Amino acid sequence: MSSQQALLQKLKGKTARIGIVGLGYVGLPLALRFSEAGFPVLGLDIDPDKVKALAAGKSYIAQIPAARIAKAVGGGLRASVDFSAARDMDVLIICVPTPLGKHREPDVSFISDTMAALKPHLHAGQAVSLESTTYPGTTEELVVPVMQAAGLKPGVDCFVVYSPEREDPGNQKFNTQTIPKVVSGLTPACREVAVALYSAVIDKVVPVSSLRTAEMTKLLENIHRAINIGLVNEMKIVADRMGIDIHEVIDAAATKPFGFVPYYPGPGLGGHCIPIDPFYLTWKALEYGVDTRFIRLAGEVNSRMPEWVVDKTTAALNERGKALKGSRVLVLGIAYKKNVDDTRESPAVEIMHLLEQRGAVVAYSDPLVPRFPKMREYHFDLATTLLTAESLKGFDCVLLATQHDAFDYTFILQHAALIVDTRGVYRESNPKVVKA
Ligand SMILES: NC(=O)c1ccc[n+]([C@@H]2O[C@H](COP(=O)([O-])OP(=O)(O)OC[C@H]3O[C@@H](n4cnc5c(N)ncnc54)[C@H](O)[C@@H]3O)[C@@H](O)[C@H]2O)c1
Repeated sequence: MSSQQALLQKLKGKTARIGIVGLGYVGLPLALRFSEAGFPVLGLDIDPDKVKALAAGKSYIAQIPAARIAKAVGGGLRASVDFSAARDMDVLIICVPTPLGKHREPDVSFISDTMAALKPHLHAGQAVSLESTTYPGTTEELVVPVMQAAGLKPGVDCFVVYSPEREDPGNQKFNTQTIPKVVSGLTPACREVAVALYSAVIDKVVPVSSLRTAEMTKLLENIHRAINIGLVNEMKIVADRMGIDIHEVIDAAATKPFGFVPYYPGPGLGGHCIPIDPFYLTWKALEYGVDTRFIRLAGEVNSRMPEWVVDKTTAALNERGKALKGSRVLVLGIAYKKNVDDTRESPAVEIMHLLEQRGAVVAYSDPLVPRFPKMREYHFDLATTLLTAESLKGFDCVLLATQHDAFDYTFILQHAALIVDTRGVYRESNPKVVKA
């Protein structure tokens, strides 16, 4: 039996041992999905705290209940920091971060480090699938050569797959199983393995012709969002100058049953994907002599948003006879989007920084982020402010940055002196509310 047939058989029988490398927002739900589908699963991570939490059946991601983890652990899900266990795996799925470097260039070192750690444990019969978002060519440049250097023949005795992750934390409508998954392989044999692997746990699998096509597909999805958000943020500024409510305009336009997709303005881009991924393509495109101007322009508009919001706040306070310097400002919601606990790249945090830089006394309230987290660029020694009539009255301004469902917006409106709303939560015109 060929290596491919043997692996396909194990996948079909759900006896293939699945190793998930990187147990973050992407890797953990995927590990749970494979485990719940009946596969033996081992999670590998360099972070011992995550491994310990899993072993104890605890969750470290707000949207994933501990009970779900405890059940999977009871059913055999394991986690480890010892990469030698990769030797016992039939499939290794890599879900490590792909951030930007200092000069907004791709930092693919997490992928290279992972491959270097896996290399001594790779052997014939295994498949390696990369899920991290990255520029077209990464899998061929960083995964294939390591497998070859381990003495393997990708496509013959081992299999190389790229399948972009489409996790949307906090989405109530779609989950890992129901989000269609694009898959690709280095060779037709690799692609067949990819289809068998993901079809075992995901309802709809979409095979594409090459690794680079799949890598580019993910980037197109996120670039599409970044650019449309940039457009609507620019429209917001125009509408504001003209005294028009942009949210009313979007709602009206969205009644068109064809040819219009609503995007909503906000305080800027956040999260691990939309502010970062477009620059992966920008960087790679330069190698081909192409300047991705749309991406650059959307980046410029979106990255100006926190500053614009702070300017609107300054003007709103000024209207009320107050200077920003010395004013007490409460930022509502510091996660990058509603109903999640993830603060990575959150524009709310940049807004806090800008406010503080200009002399405001800053506090925040976010029921999902009880203490201000450790961040690379920003440091605030703060804990969430409990929202009471008393505490709200103590602020000159409440700046609504992230519209968690947990907030009682009527109560906040009742007790706040001034609200700067960056999310269009307060639609009725009200002298206390300034839209930004
Ligand atoms: N978060 C999302 O919603 C989302 C959605 C789609 C795609 N993605 C992409 O998926 C990838 C992972 O993102 P994430 O949000 O899960 O990141 P994350 O930071 O939540 O998790 C990454 C995990 O990898 C671990 N790690 C880092 N280096 C490692 C190494 N050398 N070996 C093993 N583990 C290592 C970290 O400790 C962490 O637990 C990124 O490429 C991201 O762009 C993320």
